[in-house]
Amino acid sequence: MEKSVLTQATSREIDNTLQTPTSPSYPHMRMRRLRSTPQLRSMVRETHLRKDQLIYPLFLVEGNRKKKPISSMPGIHQQSIDEALREIEEVANLGLTSLLLFGIPSEKDSEASGAWKEEGIIQSSIQAIKKEFPHLVVVADTCLCEYMDHGHCGIVADGKVLNDPSLSILAKSAVAQARAGADIIAPSDMMDGRIQAIRNALDQNGFENIPIMAYSAKFASAMYGPFREAAESAPQFGDRHGYQMDPANSREAMREIALDIQEGADIVMIKPALPYLDLIKEARSVHKLPIAAYNVSGEYAMVKAAAEKGWLDERRVVTEVLVSIARAGADLIITYHAKDMARWLS
Ligand code: PBG
Ligand code: ZN
Repeated sequence: MEKSVLTQATSREIDNTLQTPTSPSYPHMRMRRLRSTPQLRSMVRETHLRKDQLIYPLFLVEGNRKKKPISSMPGIHQQSIDEALREIEEVANLGLTSLLLFGIPSEKDSEASGAWKEEGIIQSSIQAIKKEFPHLVVVADTCLCEYMDHGHCGIVADGKVLNDPSLSILAKSAVAQARAGADIIAPSDMMDGRIQAIRNALDQNGFENIPIMAYSAKFASAMYGPFREAAESAPQFGDRHGYQMDPANSREAMREIALDIQEGADIVMIKPALPYLDLIKEARSVHKLPIAAYNVSGEYAMVKAAAEKGWLDERRVVTEVLVSIARAGADLIITYHAKDMARWLS
């Protein structure tokens, strides 16, 4: 006993000179001391969720008085702007500060005209939202899949998704969204060079102050299934593996992120979130800009389904999931749980 105390004193002295003290070990050190009451636990808690880091997605359809539940995403709807404005009021009253908008046009075509026409669903909705809620940060998802008759995220010819010809349409869509009042442009298509193309187009049209949140490391994930029901954006042939990333690749994800930063992204995103926490953490340690994570539709559906069956405690699971995404290093979290989480944070 005496000997071990002596050894510890000595090692503490050495540590002091190196300024890297090592903790004493059991029984001198007991990790449970700081866990013994809720107050102590709260005092030493390292990660706190904030309402202003949550972004709530909405699915907007054309027309009036439309509100259709999405069966695989309980609580989430496809809705027309009049209905959406009522939900947005609730969102604002809950203390949330930001929305992510997806549009579902009634007509799709081969040039995604709904994505860039002034009267397109997202453009007109952004105007309506900013008019009533000027302080909400409106993020516009920029992609072509919802607007294309074939459901791919770019121009298609001979059964192939073409990269370079897609860039000018994406840029045109981003400018139309900015002109309508979008506060942040969020390209989700995964074409090469889109951040540069969009940055240039925004700058040339007087939107040099509109930031880009790039879906940088977006994986070809099976977890987008429910979203494709919500956005009616499933590809009519083939799949998205030729442009979205292979879930097995982390080094490639870091290259995608670095390229988007070079091209002018203000915020980079990793998507999905929970299965890719390693990448959030790595991006956080390498880069200084804000990092967003998308807690996608499939992640939401899994929690909701288990909660509905009584297999999981929804509030505790959602809190744990979102805290974990933040702990890994995400500054911003896009999540369908945002309204519930905001309530629980109040
Ligand atoms: C479209 C887009 C998708 C999501 C966001 N934007 C689906 C896809 O790429 O097929 C997924 C969001 C979610 O699953 O919640 N480019
Ligand atoms: Zn798309």
